[in-house]
This record gives sequence, C-alpha cells and structure tokens, in this order.
Amino acid sequence: MIIAVDGPAGSGKSTVAKIIASELDYLYIDTGAMYRAVTFTWLQLQELVPDVNIEEKLIPEKDIRRKILSEILGKHHEKALQLICENISIRFQNIENGILTFVNSIDVSPYIRSTIVTQNVSHIASYREVREYLVDEQRKIAEGTDVIMDGRDIGTVVFPNANLKVFLTASVETRAERRLKDLEKLGEKASFEELCAQLARRDHLDSTREESPLIKAEDATEINTDELSIIEVKDKILSCL
Ligand code: DC
Repeated sequence: MIIAVDGPAGSGKSTVAKIIASELDYLYIDTGAMYRAVTFTWLQLQELVPDVNIEEKLIPEKDIRRKILSEILGKHHEKALQLICENISIRFQNIENGILTFVNSIDVSPYIRSTIVTQNVSHIASYREVREYLVDEQRKIAEGTDVIMDGRDIGTVVFPNANLKVFLTASVETRAERRLKDLEKLGEKASFEELCAQLARRDHLDSTREESPLIKAEDATEINTDELSIIEVKDKILSCL
C-alpha cells in the first residue's frame, strides 16, 4: 500500500504523515529531506555552510571533490550535481524521538533544515539530474513495503498509481504562523512578514519549475488545513482509505 501526500511547504504534510505511519505501522519517507541532503552536500563542497566543515567526510575521495568543484567553477552545474548524485547514498534511520538523515556515513540531520539549505533547496530541486536520481531512490526505498511518502511530486511522478493520494493546502499566512511557532520552540526568532515572503517565493519556484512542478494529481483528495487540527487532518486522510 502506498499513500502519497503532496502539498506546499508548511501545509502539515510531514507532521500528519509521521502520525499516520506510526498508527498504521508504515514506513515514512520525507522526500524533502532527500532534496535537502543533496543541497547540503552541494553547499558544503563549496564551503558555503557557516561553521560546518565536513566535506571531506561526506565525499572522502579528494579527486571526486576536486572534479565536482571544477565543474561548479566552470558553471557546469548539471554535471556537478550529477557527480554528486553518483557519489552519495542517502538513507534514513529511525530513532526514539525522530528520524536521522545520512549522506554516505554522515548524519546530516543537524544541517539540512538550516536557513542556507532552505534558501537553496528549491533551486537545486529544479535540476533534472537531481530529480531523476532521487525519484529512482524513492521508488527503491518503497519496494515491497507499506509506505507513506510526502513531497511535491509523489502522486504525480513518483507513484502515479499510489493507492491513496492526498494534496494538503493552507494559506501562506497559516503556514507562516506554524513555521513561526516551530522556530519559537527552537528558540529562534523570525519575522512573520519575512516568513510569508519566503514561503511565497518557494511556492512560486516549486510550482513553476519545468521538471515535476508542484501540482495536485487529478485523482488526489484535496484537504485545506487552515481550520483543521493535525488530528482532524489525520482522520480525514484515514477516512479515505
Ligand atoms: O518539504 P521540504 O520543505 O523539506 O522540501 C524542501 C524542498 O525540496 C522544496 O522546496 C521542494 C523540494 N522538493 C521537491 O521538489 N520534490 C519533493 N518530492 C520534495 C521536496
């Protein structure tokens, strides 16, 4: 059984998908984390992530790191990203209070939600080379298991034959408020207006890109989560099964 959950950033996909996965004992796959892991590797190889210097651990072979950097310097970004994809493997590990994301043998979970990764991920996710690699990986991970997968193109591209497709929406303001609360819990400050602008920018990039844009699959059930609690969203999804 495959449940596909798509929708824009902050629509509540991952929170509800995690709850459903634990209730139904399904595997949960956060495909956004995979796009973030590639983006983090791309930035880290160029030493663009403040205070993090683990590029030698991420891709230990010096020659490969050099080759990727020279492709970036030559502005051959497609080639550089293709080389990155060929030289990493992404995997998840469930722990008691969450899920860790690994690139090769390195736990990149502390870095993939940083501001610099968030600012760059929509751009990196627009490259065909990255999408082809990750879609392939996502299909492999789901082989032979019950899975709930969230992202932008799960019901349209990754699993067009998914047993259930859900498309979650919410206004930019609701999503910014949720994000603000998450950041407050982490002790971080942000401006509501700035968060609205960031979300609108990512919505635009994700829905207008050429490769697998964010769109609702024709046969997906749309749920607007503006006025719903997470439990209400979960119940609505489960009632579609
Ligand atoms: O869900 P998220 O915010 O962690 O996703 C990060 C970015 O990855 C998002 O801006 C778009 C991209 N993404 C994608 O293009 N396709 C997916 N299936 C999942 C995420």
